[in-house]
Amino acid sequence: MQRRTFLKQTTALTALSTVQINAQTVDFPIVLSTWKNEKANDAAWESLKKTGRALDAVEAGARIPEADPNDTSVGYGGFPDRDGIVTLDACIMDEKGNAGSVTFLQNIMHPISVARAVMEKTPHVMLSGEGALQFALSQGFKKENLLTEKAKKAWEEWKKTSKYEPKINIERHDTIGLLALGNKGEISGACTTSGLAFKMHGRVGDSPVIGAAVFCDDEVGGACATGLGEFVLKTLGSFLIVELMRNGKNPQQACEEAIMRIVKRYNYKEFQIGYLALNKKGEYGAYSIQSGFSYTLTEKGVTKVFEAKSYMK
Ligand code: GLY
Repeated sequence: MQRRTFLKQTTALTALSTVQINAQTVDFPIVLSTWKNEKANDAAWESLKKTGRALDAVEAGARIPEADPNDTSVGYGGFPDRDGIVTLDACIMDEKGNAGSVTFLQNIMHPISVARAVMEKTPHVMLSGEGALQFALSQGFKKENLLTEKAKKAWEEWKKTSKYEPKINIERHDTIGLLALGNKGEISGACTTSGLAFKMHGRVGDSPVIGAAVFCDDEVGGACATGLGEFVLKTLGSFLIVELMRNGKNPQQACEEAIMRIVKRYNYKEFQIGYLALNKKGEYGAYSIQSGFSYTLTEKGVTKVFEAKSYMK
């Protein structure tokens, strides 16, 4: 997908900046997220107006579905595991290559902000489970019940027919991944999820894994993933996409190759996996295994939802 190119002159950096990269002129900022996440993009855009920083934007965007009780794949309201426990995974990466992540976190509304705190306030990249919770509490995050009545009812229904089997349950799975170019054209990315509905207790997908769910390199761009995490993990999809872009693919070609890696290597197409990529020129791409993967783009303050191309028609 080729993005339009814009004005000829490099200008001072403002909320809407225009700079020249390799003789091509690019508008910043830009926000891209998986699925139909207009409110998340709008929050990211508002954040860009305040600080101009892509990292703040992707965090602000991720916090929207995290706090939305009607989003059953992320944060508060997320469907629990097969034991009725909501467990959360998230990661964040900035333009300097800094990264933070939490996995198997419980009772904290905003895992993306805990992931950012891991990145900024510890010498580590990933904190897990009880340790992640203790760290979150030490940083002032509040312990809350994240299991809504709606999610509890869905789990109780699932138990009636599921035989407690560790099957992949992904009928409606919409982990949010976000990428942004900030006012200086710097790239950041984030991802947050409650993971597969009714998963085995302890199951962790791709969402907290840097290189799988999110990868950013400020020389190249960034990528993020949604859908069935096991295959994103086995192929380190986001890292793969960024490396493909480094080696000359445009974002669309890179997303397509990463999906085809899964399809060919594992002959896998039963569940949805989708990728987004955004390069430093502001070009973006999106591709999924199944049809129906949408993504949300904000540029020049206008937010629109698009349907991605897919391997299966
Ligand atoms: N992509 C989210 C997950 O598999 O948990």
